[in-house]
Amino acid sequence: MTTAPSDRRAILKGALGGVLCVGSALGTPLGHGPAMAAAPRKIPFGAAVRGDALAADAAYGAALADRCRLLVPEGGLKWPVLRPNRETFDFGEADRIAAFARRNGLGLRGHTLAWYGGMPAWAEAITSPVEAEWVLTSHIETVVSRYRGFIGSWDVVNEPMPDNPASPQDLRRFVWTKTLGAEYIPIAFKAAHAADPAARLVLNEYDIEYVGPRFAQRRAGILAIARSLLDRGIPIHAIGLQAHLFADRELDRDGLQSFLREIKAMKLDVLVTELDVIDAGLPTDFATRDAIVAKKAADFLQAVDEVTPPSAVLTWGITDRYTWVPIYFTRSDGTANRPLPLDSDLRPKPLMNVIERFTGSAS
Ligand code: XIL
Repeated sequence: MTTAPSDRRAILKGALGGVLCVGSALGTPLGHGPAMAAAPRKIPFGAAVRGDALAADAAYGAALADRCRLLVPEGGLKWPVLRPNRETFDFGEADRIAAFARRNGLGLRGHTLAWYGGMPAWAEAITSPVEAEWVLTSHIETVVSRYRGFIGSWDVVNEPMPDNPASPQDLRRFVWTKTLGAEYIPIAFKAAHAADPAARLVLNEYDIEYVGPRFAQRRAGILAIARSLLDRGIPIHAIGLQAHLFADRELDRDGLQSFLREIKAMKLDVLVTELDVIDAGLPTDFATRDAIVAKKAADFLQAVDEVTPPSAVLTWGITDRYTWVPIYFTRSDGTANRPLPLDSDLRPKPLMNVIERFTGSAS
């Protein structure tokens, strides 16, 4: 469905009905307490969802509705899907996911407004700062206001740090940094806040939890961005830890926890936004592999929880049937990757148990 934004907004408001609020991912504080504590607690669990699979695979939809309190479109709100060209917004996939969430009483997160990944060629070709600011802010205004009152939290800026930053100030080179420099970040947060003042605004990043200077530099960079926004009075509410965990990389517990203490001192929330465990280097045997995957996630969640319980935990997909991992991390033994809570037949794996215990959703 490709329509002018103004027509669609009215239609969508009707289709989505009233405001839906789920836990502190949408701003309501949740109970805090030690990991795996006896006292029950509820942290919303959610997963990234693919619109094409949702349309074609009823069992997949049922698994999402059964297990999740939150969804996030895996691709449906990204620029390449929404903005095939400068003139149009194509909300078809995002609207279908929003309608599914609404029907099933689930909350929705938004991912993402400013990200280098897959930017359409027409946008990447912009060279004028004035045009860049207009295109970025008008995109954010249109997209965020369309789902105002329904999408309660947005990954406003995704992956601002380069893979291997030269300094904490280093930013990834793409159209917005080439034209606007570091200012693209406050511009994006301000635009998102103006479009939905109640939305929780998140700075989302990956590869910050491991041992080594590259990861320390990335943590320092994210803290510097958050601090600078806060110093300037620009709304930011949370840091998103993507947590694409590598099963065979060592977690930097101390580094991660001091990073989280800084975030807590800034009074920002923490969300786990894209959890999965990359199993490319693990043994073939499924039981062995699944146990290592679950343990890695448990260690990570425990380390986070000791400092600041996350206000939501989302995995990047719910089932190994639909996962991005093999795009980059195929296994050399030819077996399929097993990074997610449910296997490819939608049966729960040990990772599902870890998440259910952690979030308090275990039955
Ligand atoms: C990935 C999707 O899962 C793929 O289907 C798509 O082709 C590329 O993007 N970090 C992010 C996500 O923030 O947006 C990425 O999603 C995975 C890594």
